[in-house]
Amino acid sequence: MNQPERAVMELKEHARKAAANSYSPYSRFPVGAAVAGASGRIYAGCNVENASFGLTQCAERTALTAAIADGAAPGSLGLLVIYTPGEVAHPPCGACRQVMHELMAEDSLVVSCCDGDDLHAWRNSEHLPQPFSADAILRGGPGGS
Ligand code: THU
Repeated sequence: MNQPERAVMELKEHARKAAANSYSPYSRFPVGAAVAGASGRIYAGCNVENASFGLTQCAERTALTAAIADGAAPGSLGLLVIYTPGEVAHPPCGACRQVMHELMAEDSLVVSCCDGDDLHAWRNSEHLPQPFSADAILRGGPGGS
């Protein structure tokens, strides 16, 4: 196993443990995620649902939020692994892709995995065509140049 594969396996283990803590009584669809900061620290998260369904937090955003809260620099996060139990690896939702676009490094890797061999991987730069970009706001809003 080479170094990148070892890193994915390590994050998968953290994501798998986080998925075991998932609060998903409505969907019964546990998800775990783990992201590596530049310092080598690993941040894990799970999905957290709410009776007011729209307040549900995805696992990926829980993990990314933990990394930022700990001081990881936005744009420095290099690898994020998503785990769902079972034999199918599920891709991240669009909302999470938008957040990944902003917080992860442009050339970072996002990997979806499961208990079986199914696995998908994307570069952060390729899984959300035409994302809404911070530039739109930082340039001064809709009327900005
Ligand atoms: N979910 C995630 O945690 N990540 C995704 O990328 C897609 C969906 C969660 C939200 C909800 O708790 C459950 O999966 C079913 O949608």
